[in-house]
Formats: sequence, structure tokens, C-alpha cells
Amino acid sequence: MKIFLDTANLDEIRDAVQWGVIDGVTTNPSLIAREGGDFIETIHQICGMVDGPVSAEVVAQDAATMIREGRLLAKVHKNVVVKVPLTVDGLKACKALSGDGTRVNVTLCFQAAQALLAAKAGATYISPFIGRLDDMGQDGMLLIQQIVNIYANYPDLKTEVLAASIRDPLHVVQAAEAGSDVATIPFKVLKAMILHPLTDKGNAAFLKDWASVPDQDIIGQVERWMAKRKSL
Ligand code: E4P
Repeated sequence: MKIFLDTANLDEIRDAVQWGVIDGVTTNPSLIAREGGDFIETIHQICGMVDGPVSAEVVAQDAATMIREGRLLAKVHKNVVVKVPLTVDGLKACKALSGDGTRVNVTLCFQAAQALLAAKAGATYISPFIGRLDDMGQDGMLLIQQIVNIYANYPDLKTEVLAASIRDPLHVVQAAEAGSDVATIPFKVLKAMILHPLTDKGNAAFLKDWASVPDQDIIGQVERWMAKRKSL
């Protein structure tokens, strides 16, 4: 499963990219507004930091203006994926933009029927929102499973399932188990994914035991061992 970072914060992206696990980034108007910078400049900078798809969302509500915004956003950088909402106009824009060869992420998906329509309209990604469904007492993960199953029934549909609105590591694990192609993850959740008290405890125990070894310098040991071999 690919991992995208769900943020417009440049420091978070810079940090996470260094972990070597980030395949792309998703933004939305709320995330961009939270950072307070210039939209296009922010998207351009993110594209320069991540070797993968970067979702930038249109804000127009009519198809004609969405298409115009989307075509311009696609010119900002080759990594840009144009994000459109799952409305009738969003579907029209998806069809037109994907017809141009632009990758489109159709967002705000809350039922499987919407995902089927987005795929028919040529979406590269469909973004079902798990957390927001959970918040209202529905099972967000069920939606991921349904969409994965539906798409699997029709191999002609090339749309990838991008699990969004992820709130914790369990969402990521369950999305992966369900066969989601991508999960877009807030930096806070990514950091939580690496933590386990037994990892810290085990690491501390290894270091404590290593302290009793007479020569603890691994680099020096390997260098001396190599020099010795060379001289033979
Ligand atoms: C995805 O692309 C969305 O930007 C995001 O996952 C929404 O998550 P939220 O429900 O935490 O705002």
C-alpha cells in the first residue's frame, strides 16, 4: 500500500520524506488555509519535496470553472493531481480533466455508489473518508472494503482507492488489510505508527547488555577487520 502524507505543512513533509516511506501528499483547502501561505507557491514547494503525486483541490463549484482551475493547477508541476469534490460538476470536471491526461483525485466520497461513478468518470484516485463516517456512528472501513470489492469485479476500472480521513494507526492497518491502494495519513498518525513500548524497552535492554562487551565500537571493529583481510 502506498502512503501519502495528508498535510500542507512543509516542515512535516520535509521530516516525513526523510523517513523514506512517503509516496505522495494530499492537501485540501482546509489544510492549505491552516498553513496560511500562498496556495500555488505551497503546492509548487511540496511538489519539489516529494517524488510522487501531490493533490491540489479546486474550489469552484461549477464544472466549467473547475476544469479551468484544474487545467491551471496541472501546469504548476508534473506531480500535481487535481482534486475535485464528488458532485455532479465534480464528475464532469473529472471526465474532462482525465480526458486531457491529467490525474484526478475525486474527494469527499461517503458511499460506494459515488465511488463507482467517479471510476466511470476516469478518476485516478477515489478518496473515501473513513474518520468522518466513524464520527457519525457509521463504519468507515466498511466503505473501503466495499469499494475495493466493487473495483476488483471490474478490472477495466483503473481507479485507485485512497483511504482518507484517517485518525489512527488502526485505520491504516485495516485499510491495508482491506486492500486499499493508498492511505493518506496525517503526520501525527504517521508518528504514532512507529511507536511501541516493547520496541523502546527491547532497544534499551540491547544497549544495556552491549555495555558489557569489551569493544563496543562496531565501525572500528569492521574497519580493522577489513584492513586485516586486505593485508593477507
Ligand atoms: C484527504 O485527502 C482529506 O484531505 C483528509 O483526509 C480529510 O481528513 P479529515 O476528515 O481529518 O479532515
